[in-house]
Amino acid sequence: MESELSRRTFIQQVGTTLAATPLMFSKTYAASDVVNLAVVGTGGRGTSLLKRLAEVGGARVVAVCDLDPERLNKAAHLVEQRHPVQSYADHRKLLENKDINAVIVATPDHWHTPIALSALLAGKDVYVEKPCSHNIQEANLLVKCAREHNRCVQHGTQRRSSAVDMAGVRALQEGLIGDVYVAKAINHQLRGKIGKAPAEAAPAGVNYDLWLGAAPLRAFTRNRWHYNWHWFWEYGGGDFVNDGIHQLDVAVWGLGLDLQYPQEVVTSGGQLWYDDDHETPDTQTVIYAYPGKQIVYEMRLWTDYKLEGHDNGTIFYGTKGKMEIGRGGAVATTLDGKVTAIRPADYGIQAEDILTNFVAAVRQGDPLKLNSPIDRGAVSTNLCHLGSIGVRCGGIKLAYDPKTATISSAAEANRANALIVREYRKGYELPYSS
Ligand SMILES: NC(=O)c1ccc[n+]([C@@H]2O[C@H](COP(=O)([O-])OP(=O)(O)OC[C@H]3O[C@@H](n4cnc5c(N)ncnc54)[C@H](O)[C@@H]3O)[C@@H](O)[C@H]2O)c1
Repeated sequence: MESELSRRTFIQQVGTTLAATPLMFSKTYAASDVVNLAVVGTGGRGTSLLKRLAEVGGARVVAVCDLDPERLNKAAHLVEQRHPVQSYADHRKLLENKDINAVIVATPDHWHTPIALSALLAGKDVYVEKPCSHNIQEANLLVKCAREHNRCVQHGTQRRSSAVDMAGVRALQEGLIGDVYVAKAINHQLRGKIGKAPAEAAPAGVNYDLWLGAAPLRAFTRNRWHYNWHWFWEYGGGDFVNDGIHQLDVAVWGLGLDLQYPQEVVTSGGQLWYDDDHETPDTQTVIYAYPGKQIVYEMRLWTDYKLEGHDNGTIFYGTKGKMEIGRGGAVATTLDGKVTAIRPADYGIQAEDILTNFVAAVRQGDPLKLNSPIDRGAVSTNLCHLGSIGVRCGGIKLAYDPKTATISSAAEANRANALIVREYRKGYELPYSS
């Protein structure tokens, strides 16, 4: 891993906005103080984070929030086994609570940036699940707001907090497989069909208008609801941002391409198999071309056989061999036939998990301590958005200019640029703008 000093120097050099940001610490905690946390969105992910937070020292969950009363009660019950907790059905009310220091956002994607921005404006640090945004403009706003307020914003790309991934990236940087020019991010798994769900009344007690938030008013269906919302463009971004983002993020990190955008994004994909309510693709191949390097993303959701041995994984191809980082750890195979399992201890790496790392950074009031800071998370998120925009425009080649935040060359430039932003339903406008 890069040293803290080199990372600070690097970050100070990137972008005029950041260079202008004073490196002062927002708030520090005495050893006896705890960070008061709130978890917003207590579905599958929110619940799993709640369980893990019980093991994290220096912090305590003081509030949980969900607009589904059944889920809210379950989450509150889980925490109450350890200590009292406040329950909120509306995050806007929760954010008024000045005793809450940091907010964990684990709602559907279309709520990530609006809640994260409101939390920052309310003076709180934020852990926001991946993808940090529903679109490119939102990710950029989140980075800007976090810098302006000098707050910790951790992005839920937890592979950057994995000791074995850190060691793999270190081994790549040290040249174990020679010069590395290409990485492949593999997302190859069966994501079943969801059928066609009829319109029905939203479950009793649920604030469905709030669930929809900025998205257009639609009749409730079981597919436009818990978990399956991932497959609708108005709320999610398909499996690219659901799972592929992790493999892509490792590819970017391992190739040393953090905070950079490619010169060109070549896209192809669509629905070859789904014939149900899914709007998002089941098949996607995207090539990100950087000066002298290339990332290939391959996604197929209609099979559970593995691609080059991986359902989820990232493979780096170098002049002296290849390295695979996936469920089996980090393994290098070099031209001499030697297979090396990379061990964190050999690199002196002792990682802390993503939540422990977040709490430690918050306690020190230092965003530079984060393993997955929002500026890096936003670029990984936006790379996924670009790949999906290309596919939604018919499988086009495009380029994104981060200075103007526009897609600068594409067969369907107008259509592509329209997908960088979204409309906000009245009453659910973003609380912060550029
Ligand atoms: N980092 C990871 O590995 C990882 C793993 C799984 C999920 N995730 C992310 O976590 C997020 C949640 O995923 P999930 O599978 O738990 O979804 P889910 O639909 O099961 O849960 C989301 C919960 O948020 C609630 N909610 C919606 N809008 C809300 C609002 N405005 N205020 C309060 N609660 C609200 C819903 O009622 C629901 O209970 C997604 O963005 C997903 O990408 C990350």
